[in-house]
Amino acid sequence: MLYRMTTRIRKFQFRFGHQIERRLIHDRRILDGDNNQIIMTKIYDGLLLLAEILFLIFKVLYFICESICTMFIPVTRKSVTGEIVLVTGAGHGIGKELAINYATLGATVVCWDINEGTNKQTMNEIKQMGKHSVYAYRCNVADREEVFKIAEKVRREVGDVTILVNNAGIAYAKKLLDQSVDEIVRVIDVNMISHYWTLRAFLPSMIEKNRGHVVAISSMAGLMGATHGTVYCATKSAIKALMEAISDELRTYSNKKSLIKFTTVYPSLILTGIAKKPRTRFTCVMEGIAPQKAAALIIDAQRQNLKETTIPSHWLPILYAARILPNKVVNCIWDFLDIGVDAED
Ligand SMILES: NC(=O)c1ccc[n+]([C@@H]2O[C@H](COP(=O)([O-])OP(=O)(O)OC[C@H]3O[C@@H](n4cnc5c(N)ncnc54)[C@H](O)[C@@H]3O)[C@@H](O)[C@H]2O)c1
Repeated sequence: MLYRMTTRIRKFQFRFGHQIERRLIHDRRILDGDNNQIIMTKIYDGLLLLAEILFLIFKVLYFICESICTMFIPVTRKSVTGEIVLVTGAGHGIGKELAINYATLGATVVCWDINEGTNKQTMNEIKQMGKHSVYAYRCNVADREEVFKIAEKVRREVGDVTILVNNAGIAYAKKLLDQSVDEIVRVIDVNMISHYWTLRAFLPSMIEKNRGHVVAISSMAGLMGATHGTVYCATKSAIKALMEAISDELRTYSNKKSLIKFTTVYPSLILTGIAKKPRTRFTCVMEGIAPQKAAALIIDAQRQNLKETTIPSHWLPILYAARILPNKVVNCIWDFLDIGVDAED
């Protein structure tokens, strides 16, 4: 009896042990197979990443070469004939000259300004030049409701705006603690928040047609904060960021197919009177530029589809290069050149 039981147990152990052994071999094979598959996947992913990196390096080199070549090849300017150009702040200074220049180039011009009188004057001057495709609307760009209302009127009476020039701006050169709350809010509203309202009003039709151009007049003061510009410089810097962000957003959401262009302009000192007390030790370094010349350069940049430019253009690489210098070095140079704006009364 005992013998039989022992034999059975042995047989059971033998069969069961055999099964376990077979299961283990089977599992090990699966595991080996899985491991092979994991290794293969890892190799494949690695090769894919390597190919992507190589393609990225190729693209980087290609675009660097392309931009070097474009420095020597004359760039063709796109035509603005037949475009509907809306210029904010068209009643005076740079805006007025932009309106006149665009009309001269054969565009339909829509002038916006908070000052109805000067705005109509710009329109009349353009009409006197024999250009009759010009319209004037009084609009406070800081007033969201007014922007949307007048934009709708423009759409009905003129058509879809294809080139938007956000130019209107104001400035108070004062120490931060000398600015009234009202002045701070007004500068932010006019110089910065207004861009959101005009973009929201005019971008949809550009996106729908996948064509159009937005130009923003920032300032060199937006590339480097300076005394008496705590609010002004900040608004102009924000415009740079806004333009970069919206341009990238359209690129992303259109799957890189967006044809809407964005140009940000950083003028230095333009002789319009907006900077009441400009100061410079060497006028050859920072000479005042006539608004007519500034407007011509802005339109030229827009027609070349430049992403950004300073006026004059040589300041852009200088200011970007200055970013990598130690702060004390920049301060020394700046103090030597003595460029700035004195506080207004
Ligand atoms: N002139 C410069 O030295 C200089 C330098 C850098 C940047 N900028 C920028 O260029 C742009 C134009 O400046 P400018 O020198 O021709 O100024 P400007 O004062 O000569 O003209 C500005 C125009 O904008 C209008 N405006 C002001 N507030 C408005 C509002 N809420 N709604 C609609 N219109 C409004 C004014 O009535 C005026 O007609 C501004 O954004 C300014 O910050 C000027």
